[in-house]
Amino acid sequence: MTRSEIISSTEPAPTGAALLEVDDLYVEFRQRSGTVHAVNGVSYSLAPGQTLAILGESGSGKSVSAQAIMGILDTPPAVITGGIRFEGRDMLAMQPEDQRKIRGPGISMIFQDALSALNPVYSVGWQIGEMFRVHQGASRKEAKQRAIELMDRVRIPAAARRVNDYPHQFSGGMRQRVMIAMAIALDPRILIADEPTTALDVTVQAQVMDLLKDLQQETGMGLILITHDLGVVNEVADDVAVMYAGRIVERGTVDDVFTRPAHPYTEGLMKSVPQVEAKGGRLQPIVGQPPNLAAIPSGCPFHPRCAHRRLGAAAAPGRECATDDPPLRLVAPGREAACHYSEEVLGV
Ligand SMILES: Nc1ncnc2c1ncn2[C@@H]1O[C@H](COP(=O)(O)OP(=O)(O)O)[C@@H](O)[C@H]1O
Ligand SMILES: [Mg+2]
Repeated sequence: MTRSEIISSTEPAPTGAALLEVDDLYVEFRQRSGTVHAVNGVSYSLAPGQTLAILGESGSGKSVSAQAIMGILDTPPAVITGGIRFEGRDMLAMQPEDQRKIRGPGISMIFQDALSALNPVYSVGWQIGEMFRVHQGASRKEAKQRAIELMDRVRIPAAARRVNDYPHQFSGGMRQRVMIAMAIALDPRILIADEPTTALDVTVQAQVMDLLKDLQQETGMGLILITHDLGVVNEVADDVAVMYAGRIVERGTVDDVFTRPAHPYTEGLMKSVPQVEAKGGRLQPIVGQPPNLAAIPSGCPFHPRCAHRRLGAAAAPGRECATDDPPLRLVAPGREAACHYSEEVLGV
């Protein structure tokens, strides 16, 4: 066996290792016009069968952090530091060839712009079958048969009849199922779904999320769900990490975080959508704009928009929001937040 065969085989992980451990991950894009600090010290781990939602406004570094994990960022312009371990193996230290072998059977991703990623000139069956032809050397006939099975599995009706149809003959929801079929073709241990339902209408969104949950239950894969949609998080995730300015600013179980946010940004997000229990309640968008990641504010990056900030003499020593950068810390059992005044936000 070569080293890469060992890595891509299904031998058990070193004992005690999480499926995925992301440790103090930084990603910058160095450009002539300046450096974009897209991901700034993100850490989390994922267990088999766990669903972790990564929640945040557009431009908070959600997709870039996932692309770093997938090993698909070009370096340069990206500069990546920190640790990314898949089943205990350090992905950043691996040869690109070995990283490539983890993509598919190890970690697989549904991309944010997935619906436009299908090639219009090939049938969906051919595109799904490619996973088996390229990765497993399957014959055309075998690959087609397995494409039909997968189309069945993602509940595309009349799969055997539709396998030769082209992408434009399918609705948006069905095309997203095709993308999911391709992403799960090699039975990944981890599936990263980047805004998988954003382009779909509400009923279809729910069906696609149900499908992802069912597939997860069948296979025990870990699911990382990237979204800006609180409803999606509430419905399917166990845990949530809230991102702002390329960092995790709050983390905990979905129930805890949604019932009692500990970070003013999370609190703002909750108030910005009509709550289930307060239908008709008025939308309160968070004031101000998400930060420019080429010029992140000093101190707490959220302070310019924060309703709880304390500046100057009003601040406690070492906790001045415009100058002192709050670390992510334990603020309640099972809950971390990066705010000097989380106890106040929680009302404890
Ligand atoms: N290839 C790239 N080169 C330079 N900047 C990038 C690149 N990809 C993303 N960015 C920047 O990184 C930041 C985070 O982007 P992204 O992770 O896509 O946000 P999100 O997914 O949370 O909406 C943004 O400011 C974006 O413009
Ligand atoms: Mg994104």
